[in-house]
Amino acid sequence: MTKILTKHFDEPNLHELETYKNFGGYEGIKKALSLKPAEVTAEVKKSNLRGLGGAGFATGMKWETVPPKDKLPGPRYVVANADESEPGCFKDRVLITKSPHSILEGMLIAAYAIGAEDAFVFIRGEYAVQHQILAAAIAEAEKENLIGKNILGSGFSCRISLMRGAGAYICGLDTALLETMEGKKAWPRQPPPFPTVKGLMGQPTVVNNVETLAMLPHILKDGGEAFAKVGVAKTGGTGVFSISGDVEAPGIYEFPMGTPLRKMIEAAGGVKGGRALKCVIPGGASTPPLTASEIDVPMDFESLRGLGTFLGAGGVMVLDETRNMVETAHNIERFLAHESCGQCTPCREGSEWTTRILERLMSGQGVQEDFPNLQRVGENITGKVICALGDTVGMVVRGFMKKFPEDFKLSKIH
Ligand SMILES: Cc1cc2nc3c(=O)[nH]c(=O)nc-3n(C[C@H](O)[C@H](O)[C@H](O)COP(=O)(O)O)c2cc1C
Repeated sequence: MTKILTKHFDEPNLHELETYKNFGGYEGIKKALSLKPAEVTAEVKKSNLRGLGGAGFATGMKWETVPPKDKLPGPRYVVANADESEPGCFKDRVLITKSPHSILEGMLIAAYAIGAEDAFVFIRGEYAVQHQILAAAIAEAEKENLIGKNILGSGFSCRISLMRGAGAYICGLDTALLETMEGKKAWPRQPPPFPTVKGLMGQPTVVNNVETLAMLPHILKDGGEAFAKVGVAKTGGTGVFSISGDVEAPGIYEFPMGTPLRKMIEAAGGVKGGRALKCVIPGGASTPPLTASEIDVPMDFESLRGLGTFLGAGGVMVLDETRNMVETAHNIERFLAHESCGQCTPCREGSEWTTRILERLMSGQGVQEDFPNLQRVGENITGKVICALGDTVGMVVRGFMKKFPEDFKLSKIH
């Protein structure tokens, strides 16, 4: 299996600068500094790298939407999104723990490409150890003039600072993240303008997931074309997938984009205890489910869309035949209701309603109207709210009802 990011993860000291450099670390930024910023972006576009934080937006294209300085003067910023609060996703935590310098190097490459002199890692508050690891890595890189003023004599300067979140899922959404970085309540902004035009403190800001950023040194070192060849037509390279649930060997696994889901489950040891597979949630809790008959799907953004779901942030959750899908849907809806920021009424109210209806079904107090009501509530949230959290509330419950109607019928209904 082709590995790009996790190739050297068995090296015990990869988190240290010296070891990272022994494996080609900081060669990517050196290559970038030998090019013009626009050439760096062109290389990233060639790679077909897509955002690995959930939305799958083409990275090079996103950077290109940052207006040139003569049109919009003032500072630009890069923010590494390390909020990782999606249930079922833990790859960013492992990436930071094992290879913090690859993220920092990626941030420098992004900063150089868009003309930023300040970059931030916004890290989930619970990741206290990873915060320390990143702080130590920044200090090491600063000592060697890899971060700071006039990096390696190139004339390019960039500081990297850390900011910790306070434990809200919504802060992972780019515009809510920017609000919280500005010290405000994390209510998502209604784009346009998008952050690349009006982001942190009203200035152009690129927000990228930490895994997306960690891919950049490899793209610069080995070339965009080589990276593109590893994946599928519209998505280059590999992805680091968090595989959890009813499998023998949960953990993170790196696969080329487009690898069939079946292969991924097999790589994680197959379904636990030899039981039959019932359901796979392919991209983290906010992505609608797949049935056991759908696992030959190639894991890439387009193929999953074809089955009514998303690659998300690659949080593959495997559920065996003993699991009840009303309970599973309830578990997710309860989480979303708890994490709804409350700004949009359909999401704030609707997520509570879906949770309550599912609770009623579970307790044996369900009524026939619960099915059309769940469907209707779902339809009245998705597409009628500012952010994708609300969309998810409607999509997930309807996904479970559509793919597992038997479980909903089997709930004890009056
Ligand atoms: C509710 C919600 C939570 C999100 N949480 C995260 C997160 O923890 N980390 C992340 O990188 N992206 C998260 N995203 C996606 C971000 O808004 C954004 O698309 C991403 O950080 C962009 O980086 P990328 O293009 O490299 O994927 C979240 C989106 C939503 C709707």
